[in-house]
Amino acid sequence: MRILFVCLGNICRSPTAEGVFRQRLLDAGLAERVLVDSAGTGGWHVGKGPDARTQLAARRRGFDLSALRGRQVTAEDFQRFDLILAMDESNLAHLQRMHVGAAGAEVDLFLRRFDLSPAEVPDPYYGGADGFDQVLDLIEQGADALLAEVRARL
Ligand code: 4NP
Repeated sequence: MRILFVCLGNICRSPTAEGVFRQRLLDAGLAERVLVDSAGTGGWHVGKGPDARTQLAARRRGFDLSALRGRQVTAEDFQRFDLILAMDESNLAHLQRMHVGAAGAEVDLFLRRFDLSPAEVPDPYYGGADGFDQVLDLIEQGADALLAEVRARL
């Protein structure tokens, strides 16, 4: 299975989701069976590591995001991945505009897929430090639900 997480900048939310979900897969012994990646709908941070505030909040919970580098979503991603999970409605709408034709990846809103509330992971970039912890709280819940789906599908 191949899963891509998408946000706006690929330096806060989606790299967090990539790092957290990869750790969940490692802990479950499923890392060899699922490919995980992340990308942004925008291109401002291509080649950059995750935001320092994102890395700090993640490291406090044991997730090392330092090796990740930003990239932008491409048309090929819709063929390369089975499931593309957007962090918010704006990211989802962007993906749906790119994804013309029914073939290829299933595109969905990450938290809403699992009936979690809130349905979106809020953009923490212009907010305070609390926002980064909230991102992790939401993503850890989503990652647990996604792991259950992956187990059922494999
Ligand atoms: P992300 O957060 O989409 O979670 O990576 C953002 C990062 C950068 C910007 C916006 C959101 N930006 O405008 O540069």
